[in-house]
Amino acid sequence: MSFVTTDISLAARYLLNDNLVAIPTETVYGLAGNALKEHVVARIFEIKNRPFFNPLIVHIAGTEQLIKYAEKISDVQGILAERFWPGPLTILFKKKNIIPDIVTAGLSRVGIRCPAHPLTLALLKELDFPLAAPSANPFGYVSPTTADHVQKHLGSKIPCILDGGPCRVGLESTVVEAIGNQIRILRPGAITADDIRKAGNFEIIISDFSSSRPSSPGQLEKHYAPKASLFLLPRTEWNQFFHELSVTVIYWGKPDPRWPAQWIKLSLSEKENLVEAASRLFSLLRWADEHAVKTVLAEPVPALGMGIAINDRLKRAAAR
Ligand code: TXA
Ligand code: MG
Repeated sequence: MSFVTTDISLAARYLLNDNLVAIPTETVYGLAGNALKEHVVARIFEIKNRPFFNPLIVHIAGTEQLIKYAEKISDVQGILAERFWPGPLTILFKKKNIIPDIVTAGLSRVGIRCPAHPLTLALLKELDFPLAAPSANPFGYVSPTTADHVQKHLGSKIPCILDGGPCRVGLESTVVEAIGNQIRILRPGAITADDIRKAGNFEIIISDFSSSRPSSPGQLEKHYAPKASLFLLPRTEWNQFFHELSVTVIYWGKPDPRWPAQWIKLSLSEKENLVEAASRLFSLLRWADEHAVKTVLAEPVPALGMGIAINDRLKRAAAR
């Protein structure tokens, strides 16, 4: 069992001693360690069972720290950092040598973000090194949005969890790269293409998120997956499952009274609010797993704003 605490100084002490600590962010919990030490970062990969070709995000306390780790920061990168940090946007920068190659899986660019969570921001300010942190879940599984989720899957492997309560956003950060005036979205997240467009006169390019040979190594087709079989289908196609009883449905808006009474019905958002849906998604997927259902049916949400990121995660949870 990990020791669960809200004490930043205690968490800092673990990190100073080259231990790993799970940290809260506004998006999901991260499995954090000193980003400047190769052997600490190697432990992160090992504990997550994560392939070494998949690079980690480096977390910093604010834009003023950027020049320590990033080179040739462009105006566009600067504008994005100023506008969206602290917040759920990861920006790729040319990395300085101080960032070990293991962090970026040998790539010349490093993903950096400043998370908007008061505890973790205070922790980062207390440390004189940045934190490499992937989501604190075993590789391929659903990301954790509470300290309890972390405890369940990684509790036997890490000494300490910093408990910052449930994550406000509930979906991972948007990952972008800026090439000149063009901004390419490599992973959709809480910051939408529209948000970015409003921040400047940028041309936005949206990657094919569903690729199995992705431009961002973490964009693997199957990811965020629960153990149950998940089918992503519009509700109009759910009647083929009416004879099955061990079913959980994850739906948008109002339930349909014709759905079998035995089905477990979980709402992403009865009010049809995408922000609420994002914050509930991973908890609902976990719930379905923990209650040992065989089949999970989920319907896509409207593909607007954060709905794009929600559908992206649902698609990956469904891939087989
Ligand atoms: O919200 C988040 O981003 C959370 C919290 C903890 O900050 N972190 C997170 O990390 O989701 P992770 O490792 O689960 O996902 C990082 C994503 C992966 O898809 C990875 O491939 C991509 O970012 N990424 C990181 N560094 C990259 C790089 N140098 N080049 C391309 N993609 C990169
Ligand atoms: Mg992850």
